[in-house]
Amino acid sequence: KQILILNGPNLNLLGKRQPEIYGHDTLEDVVANCSVLAEELGLTVTAAQSNHEGDIIDQIHSARDTAAGIIINPAAFTHTSVAILDALNAFDGIVLEVHISNVHKRESFRHQSYVSLRADGVIAGFGVEGYTLALRRMASVLT
Ligand code: DQA
Repeated sequence: KQILILNGPNLNLLGKRQPEIYGHDTLEDVVANCSVLAEELGLTVTAAQSNHEGDIIDQIHSARDTAAGIIINPAAFTHTSVAILDALNAFDGIVLEVHISNVHKRESFRHQSYVSLRADGVIAGFGVEGYTLALRRMASVLT
């Protein structure tokens, strides 16, 4: 089964951007770790990142025909995007929402998540380990 790992705006700068909050691993590192783990778990992963809301929506639409689950870190769009929520509502598989930082410990505007209204599970504050934890959860739910 295929899992889409979808990352939103500014996460292309992971490792360079505010490392005191998001750590030193790059998005490439995260995807590489997930690919290795996916093989162990009998899953395949594809990964996408975009700084553009519409691109993220298009990726979710494509996943309707290809993926059994989506691991999404919508980044700042988490807190703003009804359109991403609507796209996820048109996806029938498992949706797991990941935040590298503990958004609940941060500014109050980060406490609200539109995506959580659809997500089957949410991980926040586990650093980039959240992605591999979400992948393990995908395996237990889907296999
Ligand atoms: C984030 C948290 C968001 O509030 C923020 O806008 C991000 C990253 C996280 O992974 O902790 O860009 O989703």
